[in-house]
Amino acid sequence: MTREPSNSGDNKISVAFCCLGNICRSPMAEAVLRHATSEMNLSHLINEIDSFGTSGFHSGDGPDRRTVQICRANGVPVNHVSRQVQLSDFDRFDYIFAMDRENLEDLNYMQPRGSKSKIMLFGAYCEDAKMDKIISDPYYGGPDGFQSSFRQLDHFSRTFLKRLAAGTA
Ligand code: 4NP
Repeated sequence: MTREPSNSGDNKISVAFCCLGNICRSPMAEAVLRHATSEMNLSHLINEIDSFGTSGFHSGDGPDRRTVQICRANGVPVNHVSRQVQLSDFDRFDYIFAMDRENLEDLNYMQPRGSKSKIMLFGAYCEDAKMDKIISDPYYGGPDGFQSSFRQLDHFSRTFLKRLAAGTA
C-alpha cells in the first residue's frame, strides 16, 4: 500500500532531491530547503533533508565549487557528499523531488512497486508564470546557470514549505 505524505500530528516528513551527478543542483536544493525551513520556523514539519544522483559519476565528491559559491553568496550553508540513489531511498523519503524530466523518468522507472515515496518535479511548486519549472543542468555552462538554479530552488522551496504548513503540499 502506498502511504500518502502527511504533515498531520507529529508526523514529520522526509524530503530528498535528485539530479544527475549530485554535485550541482540537488546539493544546492538540499541546502536551500534546509535554510528556508529554518528561516520560516518550520523545522517541526521536516525530519530529514537529503540528496542523491541518478548516476554515481561523482560518488564521494563534495559539491561543485560553483554551487558552493552561489550558496555562500546567499548565506546558505552547503555540505554534502555525493551518492547515487538506492532502492531503500524509495521507502525512506516521503517526497523525492526531481530537477528535470530525465531525473523524473529515471526515478519513476527505478521506483519499487508499493514503496512510499511521492516522486515529483520540484518545479510543481512554481507559482511564478515567468519562471521555468525545469531546473536545467548547469554543469557545462557558466555561472548564470547556477544563479538561475538558485533562484528557482529558493522559490520552489518557499512555495513547498508554505503549502506543507497549510496541509496542501
Ligand atoms: P548535477 O550536474 O546533475 O546538477 O549534479 C551534473 C554534474 C556532473 C555531470 C553532469 C551533471 N557529469 O556529467 O559529470
